[in-house]
Amino acid sequence: MASATQVELKIQRFDPERDSEPHWQTLTVPVEPMDRVLDLLTRAKELFDGSITFRRSCAHGVCGSDALLINGRNRLACKLRVEALGRTITVAPLPGLPIVKDLVVDMEEFFDKFRSVQPYLVAAPVEGDGERIQSEEQRDRYDDTTKCILCAACTTSCPSFWAQPEYVGPAAIVNAHRFIFDSRDENADTRLDILSDENGVWRCRTTFNCVEACPRGINITKAILEVSSAISARR
Ligand code: SF4
Ligand code: F3S
Ligand code: FES
Repeated sequence: MASATQVELKIQRFDPERDSEPHWQTLTVPVEPMDRVLDLLTRAKELFDGSITFRRSCAHGVCGSDALLINGRNRLACKLRVEALGRTITVAPLPGLPIVKDLVVDMEEFFDKFRSVQPYLVAAPVEGDGERIQSEEQRDRYDDTTKCILCAACTTSCPSFWAQPEYVGPAAIVNAHRFIFDSRDENADTRLDILSDENGVWRCRTTFNCVEACPRGINITKAILEVSSAISARR
């Protein structure tokens, strides 16, 4: 049993060169009052086992690299305080993606789907020093979906994605939404075509797991429904 300044940290481990399947490693790790789960993982690696493998970069909720399944929910390790979790903390890789090693998953397919929706501005060149003017209201139209940090917490919490990994997933739809509803963009129709196919928006069953998982508080289901409505409106 861990003491007042320690927690029991259960980490899912998998080394593809040695293991046929993942297993759990349990460590009793000292905790500091302001610790986040990322601090705990870093301390476990420093004090007990340098081979524990996980991703992190900014450590401040900006880069999206340390989304993990923590006590059964997808969250960012750098934004989650240890004191909010009790005395036993389980940490596993994001579900539904191939494990590279320990807590690191292969994000390639996730980023392929992101790229498939053309997540960039497509607009005719402006003359000279001209600007593409946008009203405050037009900018607000897609403000929520600009906040995505591509952490994959949403897509990997989605039962439709688990059942059908070809589903483009909420993260890609969020990033398509960001441009579809940008008044300066001229490529909405192409993105709506892409998202209207069998692995597009219609696979969403409005389960809302994605909304609960998003560390940026994006109303993902609303964005998906807005894209679905835009597709339906063309028919
Ligand atoms: Fe992460 Fe939210 Fe973006 Fe999904 S929409 S990838 S949960 S930031
Ligand atoms: Fe999946 Fe979110 Fe839809 S969890 S089913 S994408 S509402
Ligand atoms: Fe960058 Fe957590 S390390 S978001």
